[in-house]
Amino acid sequence: MHNAVAVVTGAGSGIGRATAHSLARRGARVVVTDIDRDRAGTVAGELGERGVAAVCDVTSLDDLRAVRDLALDRFGRVDVVMNNVGILAVGPVEDIPLDAWQRVIDVNLLGIVRSNLVFLPLLLDQGSGHVVNTASTAGLLPYGFGQMPYTATKHAVVGLSESLALYLRPRGIGVSCLCPAGVATNILEQVTFYGETSPPQGPDTPVLDPTTVGELVADGITDNRFLILTAPEIDDELRERGADVDAYLSRLIKEVMQTRSTGSD
Ligand SMILES: NC(=O)c1ccc[n+]([C@@H]2O[C@H](COP(=O)([O-])OP(=O)(O)OC[C@H]3O[C@@H](n4cnc5c(N)ncnc54)[C@H](O)[C@@H]3O)[C@@H](O)[C@H]2O)c1
Repeated sequence: MHNAVAVVTGAGSGIGRATAHSLARRGARVVVTDIDRDRAGTVAGELGERGVAAVCDVTSLDDLRAVRDLALDRFGRVDVVMNNVGILAVGPVEDIPLDAWQRVIDVNLLGIVRSNLVFLPLLLDQGSGHVVNTASTAGLLPYGFGQMPYTATKHAVVGLSESLALYLRPRGIGVSCLCPAGVATNILEQVTFYGETSPPQGPDTPVLDPTTVGELVADGITDNRFLILTAPEIDDELRERGADVDAYLSRLIKEVMQTRSTGSD
């Protein structure tokens, strides 16, 4: 990691910020990018000489190209790309309009597609590097039904990342997929609610500090590990689902019906 150059999207807050810090602590130089100029500037400032800020909306190919050019100008190369931005549309599926779906897909999925278009040619030319895509435990398991655009795009991020690993690892480039459970960040700012609302649904695991997750990401890159989970409980649920998807869904559906009949939903 020493002297590696990392680009992190959505690095002005939460998991992206913590990962930028973890990578910098291990000797990397980090291009701290965020749609929010002040946040990107603050975090880059925290990293001192190891950080540089860039405003970058992941829905803009031009912004991502400008980040690549800045990284090359300032640091001469790119080694690690962390695609980390995620937003949510929450509510009953029949109340979430098409343009909300399109926005979530544009940010959560196509943001990574754009990044691949911009950064993979560099990494492929080098024959080295590492891509980290932030999905979620909601990319592995359904967690209720109140945030379907998020769940669908995060599942897509997991699928994209697995395929990317098959393509890139034989070419010397590592791929990791971060699937966090609850982390104490500003993620609720990224939620748009529709219809009769309830909070986003997630796993029943302890909420982690982002610093812990940043360290797990840095370890995952160093160890060239594909799946980075933040809660071991998820492993058990994945095994349950893998053994029999129908039985797993039946259990969840029973829980939903019980919640409805007790009126607590
Ligand atoms: N916090 C959790 O519990 C949790 C759980 C699972 C997955 N995740 C995922 O982790 C990732 C990071 O989220 P976080 O929890 O750190 O949230 P956060 O809100 O603390 O940080 C997200 C950052 O992304 C920036 N951003 C928003 N839209 C952007 C855009 N279009 N382009 C560039 N930057 C943009 C925001 O300004 C913010 O600084 C997301 O992909 C999220 O889905 C979070």
